[in-house]
Amino acid sequence: MEHLVNSRVKDIEISGIRKFFNMVANSPNLISLTIGQPDFPTPEHVKEAGSRAIADNFTTYTHNAGFLELRKAACEFVQQKYGLTYDFEQEVIVTVGASQAIDIAFRTILEEDVEVILPGPVYPGYEPIIKMCGAKPVYVDTRENGFRLTAELVEPFINENTRCIVLPYPSNPTGVTLSEQEILELANLLKDKPIWILSDEIYSELVYAGTHQSIAKWLREKTIVINGLSKSHSMTGWRIGFLFASAFLTAHMLKVHQYSVSCTSSISQKAAFEALTTGFNDADYMRKQYKKRRDYVYKRLTEMGLEVEKPTGAFYMFPSIKKFGKTSFDFALDLVNQAGVAVVPGSAFSKYGEGYVRLSYAYSLETLEKGLDRLERYIKTISK
Ligand SMILES: Cc1ncc(COP(=O)(O)O)c(C=O)c1O
Repeated sequence: MEHLVNSRVKDIEISGIRKFFNMVANSPNLISLTIGQPDFPTPEHVKEAGSRAIADNFTTYTHNAGFLELRKAACEFVQQKYGLTYDFEQEVIVTVGASQAIDIAFRTILEEDVEVILPGPVYPGYEPIIKMCGAKPVYVDTRENGFRLTAELVEPFINENTRCIVLPYPSNPTGVTLSEQEILELANLLKDKPIWILSDEIYSELVYAGTHQSIAKWLREKTIVINGLSKSHSMTGWRIGFLFASAFLTAHMLKVHQYSVSCTSSISQKAAFEALTTGFNDADYMRKQYKKRRDYVYKRLTEMGLEVEKPTGAFYMFPSIKKFGKTSFDFALDLVNQAGVAVVPGSAFSKYGEGYVRLSYAYSLETLEKGLDRLERYIKTISK
């Protein structure tokens, strides 16, 4: 019967991050620096709000877009934090994590044979959905440009088939962000073009220099902003994301959302409300810790002689391993087998990630120190 499975779905592979993680998960005494999962627990007051929602029988369907006060809180959050103005009645949808936001945004704007421009390397959550829509991912190699998708780089890739450009900054896997000047230049390039911008801002609360800037501040009409609480409030399992866009587009996206999930979990929505209001600044503490870890990991990697961009956001580093003459997969596999530490092969982030590995520093300083000691010993053995 397998020949009756949709061929586009058959062609999709499971994420390289998961694949590698599953492969090495049972290695004994392994230190894993692989996962993009904050190591902090969800803040106590947010957990209590979730429990209260159950006790109070807030356990039924809500409005498809999310309960009104939550949508209002989400709009106020992005207004106060990033200067973005959205109407809570018509321009925001509460989604099942940022993942579902990406899914419904693409399914609303894409169709057969249109093209979507992405920076390479990139988070692997976009390409499969683009392909399931029958559209074509077009990668722009950002490796020689500090992993930044700038106006100059992107311009030659724009043609009459271009339907969307993905701007995933701060970036997973590289940790880089775009400067305000770079965003302005992109806005200038795109302002008169019939192209959507999908701005995935899930790491917006984890920016280490200045404040997060969204291209929606300049190109609101053509931008779909994706955000969520997975990273900012350490709420990955609660599955809360947000989509912000113009009213006419949100109305279309809401149809896709409605027929996909009806609404996000009511219990998680109550917890999300608490996170966005009382927990407005909950990310501050975590950001400070991540920044310390970033400084530590960056120092260690550069002392080991690895070339790496200093991240300005998120909690990943993407050092080059090209000089060792191994593929990123072989490097990562040997590192597990010979040194007992796991990182993600760069090839999990498109072919433009080849020659790099991704380390997550969403781990305690103690774990990072042990993992980096092992990495250092391994590098010494293969450098001889
Ligand atoms: C860039 C990026 N977008 C979206 C997601 C998905 O987020 P969520 O867990 O809220 O679905 C992730 C998760 O790692 C991510 O790194």
